[in-house]
Amino acid sequence: SRQVKLAVIPGDGIGPEVIAEAVKVLDAVTRDSDVRFEKTEFLLGADRFLKTGDVLTDDDLDAIRGNDAILLGAVGGLPGDPRLAGANIERGLLLKLRFSLDHYANLRPTRIYPGVPSPLANPGEVDFLVVREGTEGPYVGNGGAIRQGTPHEVANEVSVNTAYGVERVVRFAFEKASARRNKLTLVHKTNVLTFAGSLWQRTVNAVAAEFPQVKVDYLHVDAATIFLVTDPARFDVLVTDNLFGDILTDLAGAISGGIGLAASGNINPDGVFPSMFEPVHGSAPDIAGQQKADPTAAILSVALLLEHLGLAAESAAVTAAVTSDIAARTGGPRPTSAVGDAIVASLDAH
Ligand code: NAD
Ligand code: IPM
Ligand code: MN
Repeated sequence: SRQVKLAVIPGDGIGPEVIAEAVKVLDAVTRDSDVRFEKTEFLLGADRFLKTGDVLTDDDLDAIRGNDAILLGAVGGLPGDPRLAGANIERGLLLKLRFSLDHYANLRPTRIYPGVPSPLANPGEVDFLVVREGTEGPYVGNGGAIRQGTPHEVANEVSVNTAYGVERVVRFAFEKASARRNKLTLVHKTNVLTFAGSLWQRTVNAVAAEFPQVKVDYLHVDAATIFLVTDPARFDVLVTDNLFGDILTDLAGAISGGIGLAASGNINPDGVFPSMFEPVHGSAPDIAGQQKADPTAAILSVALLLEHLGLAAESAAVTAAVTSDIAARTGGPRPTSAVGDAIVASLDAH
Protein backbone atom coordinates (compact mmCIF):
# COMPACT_ATOMS: atom_id res chain seq x y z
CA SER A 1 0.00 0.00 0.00
CA ARG A 2 1.06 3.55 -0.66
CA GLN A 3 2.25 5.58 2.28
CA VAL A 4 1.98 9.37 2.52
CA LYS A 5 3.81 11.32 5.17
CA LEU A 6 1.66 14.22 6.28
CA ALA A 7 2.74 17.05 8.56
CA VAL A 8 -0.22 18.45 10.49
CA ILE A 9 0.08 21.94 11.96
CA PRO A 10 -3.16 22.78 13.81
CA GLY A 11 -1.89 26.22 14.91
CA ASP A 12 -3.81 28.77 16.95
CA GLY A 13 -7.36 29.83 17.71
CA ILE A 14 -9.87 27.93 15.58
CA GLY A 15 -6.98 26.18 13.78
CA PRO A 16 -7.04 23.08 16.01
CA GLU A 17 -10.85 23.00 15.95
CA VAL A 18 -11.11 22.93 12.15
CA ILE A 19 -8.11 20.63 11.73
CA ALA A 20 -9.69 18.06 14.03
CA GLU A 21 -12.62 17.88 11.57
CA ALA A 22 -10.37 17.88 8.50
CA VAL A 23 -8.38 14.95 9.92
CA LYS A 24 -11.63 13.18 10.78
CA VAL A 25 -12.69 13.44 7.13
CA LEU A 26 -9.25 12.45 5.84
CA ASP A 27 -9.28 9.36 8.04
CA ALA A 28 -12.79 8.46 6.91
CA VAL A 29 -12.13 8.84 3.20
CA THR A 30 -8.92 6.79 3.33
CA ARG A 31 -10.24 4.13 5.74
CA ASP A 32 -10.84 1.57 3.02
CA SER A 33 -8.35 2.73 0.42
CA ASP A 34 -4.84 1.40 0.05
CA VAL A 35 -3.18 4.70 0.80
CA ARG A 36 -2.04 5.19 4.37
CA PHE A 37 -1.42 8.63 5.82
CA GLU A 38 1.33 8.67 8.40
CA LYS A 39 0.64 11.89 10.31
CA THR A 40 3.08 13.89 12.39
CA GLU A 41 1.66 16.73 14.41
CA PHE A 42 3.69 19.91 14.86
CA LEU A 43 2.53 22.11 17.69
CA LEU A 44 3.56 25.51 16.38
CA GLY A 45 2.10 28.96 16.82
CA ALA A 46 1.37 31.45 19.55
CA ASP A 47 1.09 28.91 22.39
CA ARG A 48 4.40 27.36 21.47
CA PHE A 49 6.02 30.79 21.34
CA LEU A 50 4.65 31.72 24.74
CA LYS A 51 5.98 28.46 26.22
CA THR A 52 9.39 28.26 24.56
CA GLY A 53 10.10 31.53 22.76
CA ASP A 54 10.46 29.65 19.46
CA VAL A 55 8.39 30.27 16.36
CA LEU A 56 9.91 27.81 13.86
CA THR A 57 13.31 26.29 14.52
CA ASP A 58 15.61 24.88 11.84
CA ASP A 59 14.88 21.43 13.27
CA ASP A 60 11.13 22.02 12.90
CA LEU A 61 11.62 23.12 9.32
CA ASP A 62 13.81 20.11 8.49
CA ALA A 63 11.27 17.74 10.01
CA ILE A 64 8.39 19.36 8.13
CA ARG A 65 10.35 19.33 4.87
CA GLY A 66 10.68 15.55 5.17
CA ASN A 67 6.95 15.06 4.62
CA ASP A 68 5.02 14.56 1.38
CA ALA A 69 2.46 17.27 2.21
CA ILE A 70 1.39 19.64 4.96
CA LEU A 71 -2.04 20.38 6.39
CA LEU A 72 -2.25 23.62 8.35
CA GLY A 73 -5.11 25.16 10.34
CA ALA A 74 -4.34 28.79 11.05
CA VAL A 75 -1.73 30.68 12.98
CA GLY A 76 -1.66 34.00 14.78
CA GLY A 77 -2.53 35.03 18.31
CA LEU A 78 -4.85 37.70 19.51
CA PRO A 79 -3.95 40.86 17.59
CA GLY A 80 -2.41 43.27 20.08
CA ASP A 81 -1.51 40.64 22.70
CA PRO A 82 1.50 42.30 24.36
CA ARG A 83 3.11 38.94 25.12
CA LEU A 84 3.39 38.30 21.39
CA ALA A 85 4.99 41.66 20.67
CA GLY A 86 8.41 40.09 20.06
CA ALA A 87 7.08 37.39 17.77
CA ASN A 88 5.75 37.66 14.30
CA ILE A 89 4.10 34.31 14.02
CA GLU A 90 2.60 35.01 10.60
CA ARG A 91 5.93 35.98 9.12
CA GLY A 92 8.13 33.64 11.16
CA LEU A 93 5.96 30.58 10.69
CA LEU A 94 3.46 30.76 7.85
CA LEU A 95 5.45 32.90 5.43
CA LYS A 96 8.68 31.14 6.39
CA LEU A 97 7.10 27.83 5.37
CA ARG A 98 5.73 29.25 2.10
CA PHE A 99 9.06 30.84 1.23
CA SER A 100 11.37 28.02 2.36
CA LEU A 101 9.26 25.39 0.61
CA ASP A 102 8.99 27.54 -2.52
CA HIS A 103 5.20 27.60 -2.59
CA TYR A 104 5.08 29.92 -5.56
CA ALA A 105 1.58 28.98 -6.71
CA ASN A 106 -1.04 29.69 -4.11
CA LEU A 107 -4.25 28.19 -5.47
CA ARG A 108 -7.47 29.59 -4.11
CA PRO A 109 -10.55 28.21 -5.84
CA THR A 110 -14.01 29.68 -5.38
CA ARG A 111 -17.33 28.06 -6.17
CA ILE A 112 -20.77 29.07 -5.11
CA TYR A 113 -22.13 25.68 -4.10
CA PRO A 114 -25.78 24.93 -4.84
CA GLY A 115 -27.98 26.00 -1.95
CA VAL A 116 -25.40 28.21 -0.33
CA PRO A 117 -26.63 31.49 1.14
CA SER A 118 -24.33 33.80 -0.82
CA PRO A 119 -24.72 37.48 0.08
CA LEU A 120 -25.14 38.06 -3.66
CA ALA A 121 -28.75 37.93 -4.82
CA ASN A 122 -28.05 36.60 -8.29
CA PRO A 123 -24.47 35.40 -8.56
CA GLY A 124 -24.94 32.97 -11.47
CA GLU A 125 -22.59 30.03 -12.04
CA VAL A 126 -19.52 30.98 -10.05
CA ASP A 127 -16.44 28.79 -10.38
CA PHE A 128 -13.11 30.56 -10.55
CA LEU A 129 -9.56 30.01 -9.43
CA VAL A 130 -7.24 32.67 -8.09
CA VAL A 131 -3.60 31.84 -8.72
CA ARG A 132 -1.84 34.01 -6.19
CA GLU A 133 1.94 34.36 -6.43
CA GLY A 134 3.32 33.04 -3.14
CA THR A 135 6.98 33.88 -2.76
CA GLU A 136 7.47 37.49 -3.86
CA GLY A 137 5.76 40.87 -4.00
CA PRO A 138 5.41 43.00 -0.90
CA TYR A 139 5.61 39.84 1.23
CA VAL A 140 9.37 39.39 0.92
CA GLY A 141 10.05 41.66 3.89
CA ASN A 142 12.55 43.70 1.96
CA GLY A 143 11.66 46.90 3.73
CA GLY A 144 12.87 48.93 6.64
CA ALA A 145 12.34 51.92 8.79
CA ILE A 146 14.59 54.78 9.66
CA ARG A 147 14.22 57.18 12.58
CA GLN A 148 11.53 54.79 13.90
CA GLY A 149 9.45 56.27 16.68
CA THR A 150 10.39 59.82 15.82
CA PRO A 151 8.28 62.39 13.99
CA HIS A 152 10.64 61.90 11.05
CA GLU A 153 10.09 58.20 10.70
CA VAL A 154 10.27 56.70 7.22
CA ALA A 155 8.77 53.24 6.80
CA ASN A 156 9.40 51.45 3.52
CA GLU A 157 7.90 48.23 2.23
CA VAL A 158 9.34 47.01 -1.03
CA SER A 159 7.53 44.81 -3.54
CA VAL A 160 9.97 42.45 -5.22
CA ASN A 161 8.93 41.02 -8.58
CA THR A 162 11.45 38.94 -10.51
CA ALA A 163 11.16 37.90 -14.15
CA TYR A 164 11.77 34.31 -13.02
CA GLY A 165 9.17 34.44 -10.26
CA VAL A 166 6.49 36.12 -12.34
CA GLU A 167 7.05 33.90 -15.35
CA ARG A 168 6.72 30.64 -13.46
CA VAL A 169 3.46 31.54 -11.75
CA VAL A 170 1.98 33.05 -14.90
CA ARG A 171 2.84 29.89 -16.85
CA PHE A 172 1.26 27.81 -14.10
CA ALA A 173 -1.91 29.94 -14.30
CA PHE A 174 -2.09 29.47 -18.09
CA GLU A 175 -1.80 25.71 -17.60
CA LYS A 176 -4.66 25.81 -15.11
CA ALA A 177 -6.76 27.94 -17.50
CA SER A 178 -6.10 25.44 -20.31
CA ALA A 179 -7.45 22.66 -18.12
CA ARG A 180 -10.54 24.74 -17.25
CA ARG A 181 -12.51 27.21 -19.38
CA ASN A 182 -9.59 28.78 -21.25
CA LYS A 183 -9.90 32.21 -19.74
CA LEU A 184 -7.27 34.10 -17.82
CA THR A 185 -7.53 37.50 -16.18
CA LEU A 186 -4.42 39.30 -15.04
CA VAL A 187 -5.18 41.47 -12.03
CA HIS A 188 -2.72 44.19 -11.10
CA LYS A 189 -2.46 47.93 -10.74
CA THR A 190 -0.41 48.76 -13.82
CA ASN A 191 -1.61 52.33 -13.85
CA VAL A 192 0.18 53.10 -10.59
CA LEU A 193 2.66 50.28 -9.92
CA THR A 194 4.26 50.80 -13.29
CA PHE A 195 7.46 48.78 -12.92
CA ALA A 196 5.90 45.64 -11.45
CA GLY A 197 2.80 46.09 -13.59
CA SER A 198 4.84 46.28 -16.76
CA LEU A 199 6.72 43.09 -15.88
CA TRP A 200 3.49 41.22 -15.12
CA GLN A 201 1.77 42.47 -18.29
CA ARG A 202 4.72 41.71 -20.57
CA THR A 203 5.08 38.27 -19.02
CA VAL A 204 1.42 37.48 -19.57
CA ASN A 205 1.65 38.70 -23.16
CA ALA A 206 4.70 36.53 -23.82
CA VAL A 207 3.37 33.34 -22.24
CA ALA A 208 -0.02 33.89 -23.92
CA ALA A 209 1.63 33.20 -27.27
CA GLU A 210 2.18 29.59 -26.14
CA PHE A 211 -1.47 29.20 -25.16
CA PRO A 212 -3.42 30.55 -28.15
CA GLN A 213 -6.62 28.86 -26.96
CA VAL A 214 -6.64 30.89 -23.74
CA LYS A 215 -8.49 34.19 -23.88
CA VAL A 216 -6.62 36.79 -21.86
CA ASP A 217 -7.84 39.98 -20.30
CA TYR A 218 -6.72 42.46 -17.70
CA LEU A 219 -8.33 44.26 -14.77
CA HIS A 220 -6.97 46.78 -12.34
CA VAL A 221 -7.36 45.33 -8.88
CA ASP A 222 -9.85 47.95 -7.73
CA ALA A 223 -12.12 47.20 -10.69
CA ALA A 224 -11.66 43.48 -10.07
CA THR A 225 -13.31 43.92 -6.67
CA ILE A 226 -16.32 45.48 -8.40
CA PHE A 227 -16.77 42.56 -10.78
CA LEU A 228 -16.21 39.97 -8.05
CA VAL A 229 -19.36 41.37 -6.48
CA THR A 230 -21.42 42.36 -9.54
CA ASP A 231 -20.48 39.61 -12.01
CA PRO A 232 -18.29 36.90 -10.45
CA ALA A 233 -19.45 34.34 -13.04
CA ARG A 234 -17.31 36.12 -15.65
CA PHE A 235 -14.10 34.77 -14.11
CA ASP A 236 -12.24 31.54 -14.79
CA VAL A 237 -8.59 31.90 -13.73
CA LEU A 238 -7.25 35.08 -12.16
CA VAL A 239 -3.52 35.49 -11.78
CA THR A 240 -2.13 38.15 -9.51
CA ASP A 241 0.60 39.10 -7.09
CA ASN A 242 0.91 38.02 -3.49
CA LEU A 243 -0.85 40.96 -1.82
CA PHE A 244 -3.64 41.50 -4.35
CA GLY A 245 -4.29 37.76 -4.22
CA ASP A 246 -4.57 37.84 -0.46
CA ILE A 247 -7.19 40.57 -0.54
CA LEU A 248 -9.19 39.24 -3.49
CA THR A 249 -9.50 35.80 -1.95
CA ASP A 250 -11.03 37.01 1.31
CA LEU A 251 -13.58 38.82 -0.86
CA ALA A 252 -14.04 35.66 -2.91
CA GLY A 253 -14.66 33.72 0.29
CA ALA A 254 -17.27 36.21 1.40
CA ILE A 255 -19.23 36.07 -1.86
CA SER A 256 -19.08 32.27 -1.89
CA GLY A 257 -21.10 32.15 1.30
CA GLY A 258 -18.47 32.75 3.92
CA ILE A 259 -14.76 32.63 4.60
CA GLY A 260 -15.40 29.34 6.39
CA LEU A 261 -15.83 27.72 2.96
CA ALA A 262 -12.62 28.96 1.30
CA ALA A 263 -9.82 26.43 0.83
CA SER A 264 -6.31 26.86 -0.50
CA GLY A 265 -3.21 25.05 -1.59
CA ASN A 266 0.29 26.48 -1.38
CA ILE A 267 1.85 24.55 -4.20
CA ASN A 268 5.43 23.84 -5.11
CA PRO A 269 4.66 22.66 -8.65
CA ASP A 270 8.21 21.40 -9.16
CA GLY A 271 7.56 18.77 -6.47
CA VAL A 272 10.87 19.49 -4.79
CA PHE A 273 9.22 20.48 -1.52
CA PRO A 274 5.98 19.41 0.12
CA SER A 275 2.96 21.52 -0.75
CA MET A 276 0.83 22.93 2.05
CA PHE A 277 -2.96 22.99 2.28
CA GLU A 278 -4.86 25.35 4.55
CA PRO A 279 -8.08 27.30 4.82
CA VAL A 280 -7.88 30.88 3.55
CA HIS A 281 -9.12 32.18 6.89
CA GLY A 282 -7.09 32.92 10.01
CA SER A 283 -7.23 31.87 13.64
CA ALA A 284 -10.44 33.88 14.27
CA PRO A 285 -9.79 34.79 17.91
CA ASP A 286 -13.30 36.26 18.10
CA ILE A 287 -14.90 32.80 17.88
CA ALA A 288 -12.07 30.52 19.02
CA GLY A 289 -12.76 27.83 21.59
CA GLN A 290 -16.52 27.98 21.06
CA GLN A 291 -17.05 25.36 18.35
CA LYS A 292 -18.46 28.12 16.16
CA ALA A 293 -15.98 27.86 13.29
CA ASP A 294 -17.06 26.32 10.01
CA PRO A 295 -14.53 23.54 9.29
CA THR A 296 -15.60 23.26 5.64
CA ALA A 297 -12.64 25.33 4.39
CA ALA A 298 -10.23 23.00 6.16
CA ILE A 299 -12.09 19.95 4.83
CA LEU A 300 -12.05 21.31 1.26
CA SER A 301 -8.33 21.91 1.75
CA VAL A 302 -8.07 18.16 2.38
CA ALA A 303 -9.81 17.65 -0.99
CA LEU A 304 -7.18 19.85 -2.65
CA LEU A 305 -4.44 17.92 -0.84
CA LEU A 306 -5.82 14.58 -2.04
CA GLU A 307 -6.07 15.86 -5.59
CA HIS A 308 -2.51 17.15 -5.46
CA LEU A 309 -1.31 13.73 -4.33
CA GLY A 310 -3.05 12.10 -7.29
CA LEU A 311 -5.84 10.64 -5.16
CA ALA A 312 -8.58 11.89 -7.48
CA ALA A 313 -11.33 9.52 -6.32
CA GLU A 314 -10.80 10.34 -2.65
CA SER A 315 -10.68 14.06 -3.45
CA ALA A 316 -13.91 13.89 -5.42
CA ALA A 317 -15.58 11.97 -2.61
CA VAL A 318 -14.72 14.69 -0.10
CA THR A 319 -15.94 17.43 -2.44
CA ALA A 320 -19.19 15.54 -3.06
CA ALA A 321 -19.77 15.04 0.67
CA VAL A 322 -19.16 18.74 1.31
CA THR A 323 -21.45 19.68 -1.58
CA SER A 324 -24.31 17.64 -0.17
CA ASP A 325 -23.69 18.93 3.35
CA ILE A 326 -23.86 22.51 2.08
CA ALA A 327 -27.02 21.78 0.09
CA ALA A 328 -28.67 20.37 3.23
CA ARG A 329 -27.87 23.40 5.39
CA THR A 330 -30.86 25.03 6.97
CA GLY A 331 -29.08 28.14 8.17
CA GLY A 332 -29.09 27.27 11.85
CA PRO A 333 -25.70 27.24 13.57
CA ARG A 334 -24.01 23.86 14.07
CA PRO A 335 -21.02 23.17 16.25
CA THR A 336 -17.75 22.71 14.36
CA SER A 337 -17.63 19.01 15.16
CA ALA A 338 -21.23 18.48 13.98
CA VAL A 339 -20.28 19.75 10.52
CA GLY A 340 -17.37 17.31 10.40
CA ASP A 341 -19.60 14.48 11.57
CA ALA A 342 -22.24 15.29 8.96
CA ILE A 343 -19.65 15.29 6.17
CA VAL A 344 -18.24 11.97 7.37
CA ALA A 345 -21.78 10.56 7.48
CA SER A 346 -22.38 11.73 3.93
CA LEU A 347 -19.08 10.09 2.85
CA ASP A 348 -20.15 6.84 4.47
CA ALA A 349 -23.55 7.00 2.78
CA HIS A 350 -21.96 6.99 -0.71
P1 NAD B 1 -9.75 35.70 10.35
O1 NAD B 1 -9.89 35.02 9.03
O2 NAD B 1 -9.16 34.91 11.44
O3 NAD B 1 -11.20 36.21 10.81
C1 NAD B 1 -11.99 37.15 10.07
C2 NAD B 1 -13.47 36.96 10.39
O4 NAD B 1 -13.91 35.73 9.78
C3 NAD B 1 -13.74 36.81 11.88
O5 NAD B 1 -14.95 37.42 12.19
C4 NAD B 1 -13.85 35.31 12.08
O6 NAD B 1 -14.66 34.91 13.17
C5 NAD B 1 -14.45 34.86 10.75
N1 NAD B 1 -14.04 33.48 10.43
C6 NAD B 1 -12.81 33.08 10.08
N2 NAD B 1 -12.77 31.76 9.86
C7 NAD B 1 -14.03 31.31 10.08
C8 NAD B 1 -14.63 30.02 10.02
N3 NAD B 1 -13.94 28.91 9.71
N4 NAD B 1 -15.94 29.92 10.33
C9 NAD B 1 -16.65 31.00 10.65
N5 NAD B 1 -16.14 32.26 10.71
C10 NAD B 1 -14.84 32.41 10.43
O7 NAD B 1 -8.92 37.03 10.08
P2 NAD B 1 -8.32 38.12 11.13
O8 NAD B 1 -9.30 38.35 12.23
O9 NAD B 1 -7.88 39.22 10.29
O10 NAD B 1 -7.04 37.42 11.73
C11 NAD B 1 -6.98 36.74 12.98
C12 NAD B 1 -5.57 36.16 13.16
O11 NAD B 1 -5.33 35.13 12.19
C13 NAD B 1 -4.46 37.19 12.96
O12 NAD B 1 -3.45 36.89 13.88
C14 NAD B 1 -4.01 36.93 11.54
O13 NAD B 1 -2.70 37.34 11.31
C15 NAD B 1 -4.14 35.44 11.45
N6 NAD B 1 -4.32 34.90 10.11
C16 NAD B 1 -3.73 33.71 9.85
C17 NAD B 1 -3.96 33.08 8.64
C18 NAD B 1 -3.34 31.75 8.38
O14 NAD B 1 -2.83 31.13 9.29
N7 NAD B 1 -3.35 31.27 7.18
C19 NAD B 1 -4.79 33.67 7.69
C20 NAD B 1 -5.39 34.90 7.98
C21 NAD B 1 -5.16 35.51 9.21
C1 IPM C 1 -3.57 34.26 4.26
C2 IPM C 1 -3.16 35.13 5.42
C3 IPM C 1 -1.66 35.35 5.40
C4 IPM C 1 -1.31 36.07 4.11
C5 IPM C 1 -1.08 36.13 6.60
C6 IPM C 1 -1.53 35.56 7.92
C7 IPM C 1 0.42 36.16 6.54
O1 IPM C 1 -3.85 36.33 5.40
O2 IPM C 1 -3.11 33.11 4.18
O3 IPM C 1 -4.36 34.70 3.44
O4 IPM C 1 -1.39 37.29 4.03
O5 IPM C 1 -0.94 35.39 3.16
MN1 MN D 1 -5.42 36.41 3.88
